[in-house]
This record gives sequence, C-alpha cells and structure tokens, in this order.
Amino acid sequence: MPVIREEDLISGFRDLGLKNGDIVLVHSSLKSFGYVEGGADTVIDALLKSVGDEGTVMVPTLTGKPTDSKENPPVFDVRHTPCWTGRIPETFRLRKEAIRSLHPTHSVAAIGAKKIILTEGHENSKSPCDENSPYYKNALLKGYIMLIGVVQESNTSIHSCEEIAGVPYHLQKEITEAYVIGYKGERIIVRNRLHDWNKPPTDFNKLDRIFYEKGIMRIGKIGNSIIRLIEADKMFEITVELLRKDNYFLVKKLE
Ligand SMILES: CC(C)(COP(=O)(O)OP(=O)(O)OC[C@H]1O[C@@H](n2cnc3c(N)ncnc32)[C@H](O)[C@@H]1OP(=O)(O)O)[C@@H](O)C(=O)NCCC(=O)NCCS
Repeated sequence: MPVIREEDLISGFRDLGLKNGDIVLVHSSLKSFGYVEGGADTVIDALLKSVGDEGTVMVPTLTGKPTDSKENPPVFDVRHTPCWTGRIPETFRLRKEAIRSLHPTHSVAAIGAKKIILTEGHENSKSPCDENSPYYKNALLKGYIMLIGVVQESNTSIHSCEEIAGVPYHLQKEITEAYVIGYKGERIIVRNRLHDWNKPPTDFNKLDRIFYEKGIMRIGKIGNSIIRLIEADKMFEITVELLRKDNYFLVKKLE
C-alpha cells in the first residue's frame, strides 16, 4: 500500500492545476490514497496550503436522511450534527477556523479567504442547492470541484444544476419547515423543498466523459487515488444546458 505524505499531496494537487487563490469544493474518500501519514488532517493541510491564504477550501457536510419530510422535519445543529460525507469533511468541519453553512440537509464547511461569502445565506435557499447555496456560488466565483477517489455520483453540484434547470423529479413537492440551530444556539426555521429520496435512479457518471472531452476536467493520481479537478462554472453551463434541453437527461433509462 502506498504511503502518502503532505508533500506528495501538495505536488499532486498542484500538478492537477490547483493554485494560490483558488476556491475548491472537495468530495473525498480518505482510504482511496492508500495510507496517508497523519490521516484526514494531512489531506486538509495539503489542500489549504495548495490554495494559500487567498484561497478557500470547502467540503460538503451533508446530514440529510431518507425520512426527512414535511411530516418528519430534519433538525440540524451547526455545531454538533455530524456529516455522513466522510472522515475528511467531518475532521474539517470541527476545525476552529471552519464556518459551516446553516442548511438543514446540505450544509458546506469552508476555510479561507472567501469562507463567509460562500457560506452565508444558505438558510435562505428555497431548495438545498439553489442560487443561494455555496454550490452555485462556487461556480459564480469560478471555483473548482475536486473528486478525490470518488466519481460523479458524489458531485453534489450536479444536484445544483438539476435545481437551476428545474428538473421535475429531484425535489419533494411539499415545503418542509426544518429546524436549524445556529452558532449561538439560536433557532432558525428554514423552509425548503427537500431532496426527494424516492426520485427515479440517476446516472451522474455519464457526465464524466463529457466533462473530460470538453476540456473542463483534469484527471490525476496520487497514490492509489484517482483525482478529478473540474471547473465549476463550465460544468454548470454544460450540465444546465443539457438538462434544459432534456429534463430527464440524467435519469437512468429503463432497459
Ligand atoms: C462514503 C465515503 C466517504 C467512503 O470513503 P472511505 O475512504 O471509505 O471513508 P472516509 O473517507 O470516511 O475515510 C475513512 C476510511 O479511511 C481509513 N483510514 C483511516 N486512517 C487512514 C489513513 N491515515 N490513511 C488512509 N486511510 C485511512 C479508515 O480505516 C476508513 O476505512 P474503513 O471504513 O474501511 O475502515 C466515500 O466513498 C464517498 O462517497 N465520499 C464522497 C461523499 C460525498 O461527498 N457525497 C456527496 C453526495 S451528493
């Protein structure tokens, strides 16, 4: 099993094109690398060093679950609710300099120069990944999406494209009043059309080849981990256009 150190990660991220001042939203599998000396903290430090003090790193700290609905509204405490998106995001959100957005199911944690602008106002979203969300703002600010040892199925920003394009299958029909507990213990009601866990099966991986062939995604390897770095603004342009032409482009066709 390869042993990966911080310097291997930094040179790998830089080879992919990550540079000082960049914004990057990272979806990850820690064990995909092999063995990382220092674990999740080493990966986080390497990402922060790769973008420098002017840059910003974000991770999805998702908490939604299939029972979330108008009848069973989610309760989210920004300080204490753990995420299910892996060891790297869970370690990241607990860093004292991290800010986590106030969304009951699709929060994001950010560290760096643009952490406030990216995370603020997520509680005003009408759906998890709409124009007020960090996913969309990442595209507006010409950030990147990085997939570390995971595939497009983990790319939450594709849900954002579905919401922007207005596909009819992705959100619950009803509006849920969810409870968010903020950093000072204050209670906020967030009204949202939540993710529909009973939606038809989708195939986000069919976008992988399109992103690569359009030249908006680079692929590299660090240890055993395949890393993808995608230009978020162009990914949104391409994906929203495909979804506007065909709302069901990403829905798996019945055999
Ligand atoms: C589910 C998922 C997190 C699992 O990945 P993973 O690598 O198995 O799990 P984590 O990233 O949480 O890391 C923990 C694993 O790393 C291993 N690990 C611990 N220390 C380690 C180290 N120093 N070096 C390498 N691996 C280590 C742990 O043993 C654990 O593996 P195990 O469960 O087999 O014991 C990943 O596949 C995934 O889907 N990530 C993206 C999630 C996401 O963003 N989803 C958005 C949905 S829209």
